[in-house]
Amino acid sequence: MTTHAKPPSKNVHLLRWVNKMAALCKPEAIHWVDGSQEEYDALCAGLVEAGTFIKLDQQKWPGCFLARSDAGDVARVEERTFICSLSKEAAGPTNNWVNPYEMRRTLRRLFDGCMQGRTMYVLAYSMGPIGSPMAQIGVQLTDSPYAVVNMRIMARIGLPVFQEIDRADKRVVPCMHTVGAPLKPGQADVPWPCNPEKYIVHFPETREIWSYGSGYGGNALLGKKCFALRIASAMARDEGWMAEHMLILGVQNPEGQKTYVAAAFPSACGKTNFAMLIPPPAYQQKGWKVWTVGDDIAWIKPDAQGRLRAINPEAGFFGVAPGTGHKTNPNAMAALATNTIFTNVALTDDNGVWWEGMTDEPPAHAIDWQGREWTPALAREKGVKAAHPNARFTTPARQCPTMDPDWEKPEGVPISALIFGGRRASVMPLIYQAFNWSAGVYVGATMGSEMTAAAAGTVGQVRRDPMAMRPFCGYNMGDYFRHWVNMQRKLTETPRIFHVNWFRKDADGKFLWPGFGENMRILQWIVNRACGRALGRETPIGWQPSYDDLDWTGLDFPREKFDALQKVDRAAWRREVLDHEELFLDLHSHLPKEMVYERELLVCRL
Ligand code: GTP
Ligand code: SPV
Ligand code: MN
Repeated sequence: MTTHAKPPSKNVHLLRWVNKMAALCKPEAIHWVDGSQEEYDALCAGLVEAGTFIKLDQQKWPGCFLARSDAGDVARVEERTFICSLSKEAAGPTNNWVNPYEMRRTLRRLFDGCMQGRTMYVLAYSMGPIGSPMAQIGVQLTDSPYAVVNMRIMARIGLPVFQEIDRADKRVVPCMHTVGAPLKPGQADVPWPCNPEKYIVHFPETREIWSYGSGYGGNALLGKKCFALRIASAMARDEGWMAEHMLILGVQNPEGQKTYVAAAFPSACGKTNFAMLIPPPAYQQKGWKVWTVGDDIAWIKPDAQGRLRAINPEAGFFGVAPGTGHKTNPNAMAALATNTIFTNVALTDDNGVWWEGMTDEPPAHAIDWQGREWTPALAREKGVKAAHPNARFTTPARQCPTMDPDWEKPEGVPISALIFGGRRASVMPLIYQAFNWSAGVYVGATMGSEMTAAAAGTVGQVRRDPMAMRPFCGYNMGDYFRHWVNMQRKLTETPRIFHVNWFRKDADGKFLWPGFGENMRILQWIVNRACGRALGRETPIGWQPSYDDLDWTGLDFPREKFDALQKVDRAAWRREVLDHEELFLDLHSHLPKEMVYERELLVCRL
């Protein structure tokens, strides 16, 4: 690794910081990541040798690897995530807060010698196309080669970014990451080193990230949730833009016009699937097409004309594997066929991968995500899952067949509609449109969703997840609502705001709506409404399409079922509003008055 010991940057601040951090963490070697294919291949080979990676059958799965994590390191850890602003008030009641001085003391203790026996990688990355006016740069110091190879897929990394640091003299976000498992001389390593004690820490004022103890996803790929959402949301508030947990897609109609929308659904609630939607055959024949720009994060900013423009700051997908199949999401399946890192899926006997929902027929035998024997009988009789419910694929965005030709456009794409959506078995209808911007902000602010396996915690319980940002907002949620309300003043064209729920269930617990590609029927209404070309009916909560306002060609969907999906049950909604009130009570000292007015208006209409 000595070839990577020489810094490819002349930035004195960067060099000084790396030296200082190396003195603290005491790694055995320093590797400046150049981002090349050769380096990536060598790191992957090293991961295979260490037992972290299993190389899959290269005929069937070219360039693909499987990683199995430690069983206690499978998802984000919200309880261990901290926003250490100077005041507790600035972090707000939805974030964990620790006094920054105290937290720095703790971190100094934890990081002292934390990389002993390991290599420290200096990973420069750009969130957003390098050189884009909306892009931001971070440098992650990490002792996890797994994090490095995943980040190479998820962001633009390496030499071009070091050059950009030297050229642009831009502020860089320092990101410290360790798995927290120093190696004593002669001590054997484990395939997935990590520490039972975890800290995911953000200092919004100084724009720093410190992550300790985990090697998994959002805890370890610091450009993603830590930077592009938590730190960036605080930057965006200060600078007049928005960092959101949103997918971005473009809808092309038969006349060839493209309308872009951004949608916020909580973790594991359908962003990747919606971003890669394939319209039903009848729509395709008419000339409808959906283009993918991003599947998880959107940075949105008003342009000089007062129109919102969005970029996807990422370069890859870190997608949920279970439920992703040829029937539900062929685009994702095509994307992940090559050059993909799978984490916590099952290994098949022919050295391939499988997960629940990939195919209708499970393999007769596999090795589950914990390395144990698995058969369909075990699943039937004991409920054993082959893949962890939060198993993921890391795959380059450019491999997705529907990537929009403009997905890397430095100035982003224009946004005409914003969509909020949760996972709700009851109450929330399939689709409605908010009356106006302020009512729409209220819809986003009061969003609820059942918790999923994307974070450690109780799966299935409904919690308020404002704008799908509860785990990702780097400051006081009340101030975040105010920022949303205020954004409209900078706009000459206000995007329309909608709410969807693909997950409403009938009395037998079955989904009422087929979802996936059929969501196109709803998306069509949304883009037509955004362009003033579709009818809606006024209800107490907003505008709703009637059965006859949608195009049902090619789908046999009864009117009664649609009415059940769209039903606004006033009694249930009154209870829902009480839940809104509970969130608002928590946030009361920072809640913008617009939210209180909107609540009153809603109560009156109900
Ligand atoms: P994060 O990456 O965690 O932020 O999640 P995401 O919002 O991108 O979630 P994703 O698209 O990966 O969806 C997660 C789960 O929702 C998968 O199991 C999907 O099969 C399921 N899902 C997605 N879209 C639909 C839909 O329209 N209907 C139903 N019933 N399930 C869906
Ligand atoms: C999410 O949990 O919303 C994700 C996965 O997109 S992670 O990167 O682990 O946060
Ligand atoms: Mn996400």
